[in-house]
Amino acid sequence: MIIKVKRAAVQKLKTPCLVLGVWESKSKSGLLQELDAELGGRIGRALREGEFTGKSLQTLLVDGTDSVRFQRLLLVGLGKDRQAGGELLRQAAATAARLLQEKKITSFVCALHQAELKKLGFEERVRAVVEGIFLARYRYDRYVTKNRDNLPGAFSEVILALEVGPALEFVEAAVEQGRAVAEAVCFARDLVNAPGNLKSPAYLADQAALAAGEFGLACRILERPELEEKGFGGLLGVAQGSSRAPRLIVLEHRGGDEGEPPVVLVGKGVVFDAGGISLKPAEKMDEMKMDMAGGAAVMGTLVAAARLKLPVNLVGIVPAVENLPSGTAYRPGDILTSLSGQTIEVLNTDAEGRLILADALCFARQYNPRLVVDLATLTGACIIALGHHASAVLGNDEALIKKLIAAGERSGERLWQLPLWDEYSQQIKSDVADVKNVGGRPAGTITAAAFLKEFAEGLCWAHLDIAGTAWEEKGKAWAPKGGTGVGVRLLVDFLSN
Ligand code: BES
Ligand code: ZN
Ligand code: ZN
Repeated sequence: MIIKVKRAAVQKLKTPCLVLGVWESKSKSGLLQELDAELGGRIGRALREGEFTGKSLQTLLVDGTDSVRFQRLLLVGLGKDRQAGGELLRQAAATAARLLQEKKITSFVCALHQAELKKLGFEERVRAVVEGIFLARYRYDRYVTKNRDNLPGAFSEVILALEVGPALEFVEAAVEQGRAVAEAVCFARDLVNAPGNLKSPAYLADQAALAAGEFGLACRILERPELEEKGFGGLLGVAQGSSRAPRLIVLEHRGGDEGEPPVVLVGKGVVFDAGGISLKPAEKMDEMKMDMAGGAAVMGTLVAAARLKLPVNLVGIVPAVENLPSGTAYRPGDILTSLSGQTIEVLNTDAEGRLILADALCFARQYNPRLVVDLATLTGACIIALGHHASAVLGNDEALIKKLIAAGERSGERLWQLPLWDEYSQQIKSDVADVKNVGGRPAGTITAAAFLKEFAEGLCWAHLDIAGTAWEEKGKAWAPKGGTGVGVRLLVDFLSN
């Protein structure tokens, strides 16, 4: 897809469709009035009769006339809140892109970035719109072999028109940034959507190495012998049930000064979570191919950081493993010795994520990190607590948590903090080992984080539980059914600020 920036008045460009954002208000803007006159009052009528009010993400598609250069006009409602952030434009652009795609309209002129949002600069608006278009265009269709002609069409060209505004080169740079972030999100989505038979731990590692080669990241993969030698007891314990060997994936972006302590990102990379001997029920077990979404977010963020040349040192660590039952699988009652030396009583083999993250958090220490953020589809309890509209954030550093929450507000990937009081740690005390891997029914998301806290001692650390946000069940304009790529935009925003 080509995105062109043109210095022109939007209504002067010849195009199959002109896309315009409209605020919900009684009066028409100057441009809307002008277009309404040329379309014989069609817009005014829709507004008067309530067919279109400008309500957030409402759409109205009308045909052009002989007197205008566009064949159609698509109005997208922006609601009333001019204090809104980039997420509004992202969603508006995605809504428009999705609608046009379904109608097989493959090229359009976009004016959405011209909507005046009080908190956003021109380039930020351009970035949001470009992200929205790319995110809406995403589909995981590589395994569809029949009737490929019927797949919704992709755009060949989008033109962003601006009559006034910054120099074209700045706008073009913003377009490239939006594209880089959205493509990193789609890279993460591809990884999450990949079926389990393709997606072994080795496959994840290969994808990391390929991305590293393409975008100039350093990459190191630890295989079983090295993991054994170092003592990755959690990762190796979970790996026991699968014939596909685990990997530890490490990606590095060196964008900061040499010697500057890095930000370390850790992502849960369970390529398939059947639960192990504590087997999950059959219903929806297929969705557990998404249990590496944290790892995908970390890999996507590293790619985005490299493409955006973010001036920060960044390390991404993804323990990759498969959790299956078998004759060699680890069992309830087993005691594992983690990389830190702390022992863990395994009472449920389905609480595997925390076991591999414990090792990864310990491995992170060698980088003397400035801060550590881990992302994981860790607990079903998180979906019970927050549903699908926010990820949970917990940690041992309130300032870090605040910054992450702020990045969540800006990026639209919202976070909600849960408490991590010492009292919760009572629930993971073991009689026979240092900790146990389950804390009972109450506060499942918190006790999982309390478990991780034992391994994050002394680190400036936050944990994001993305169990409810990593997978889209119904499909939205900006995120079709399947993996959402959640975390990438949040972390790019966090690192950029
Ligand atoms: N990967 C799951 C959590 C999950 C559930 C993610 C649903 C996304 C959607 C995790 O490994 C798990 O099974 N957790 C258990 C923990 C319990 C045994 C303490 C859970 O949430 O039931
Ligand atoms: Zn599990
Ligand atoms: Zn899991």
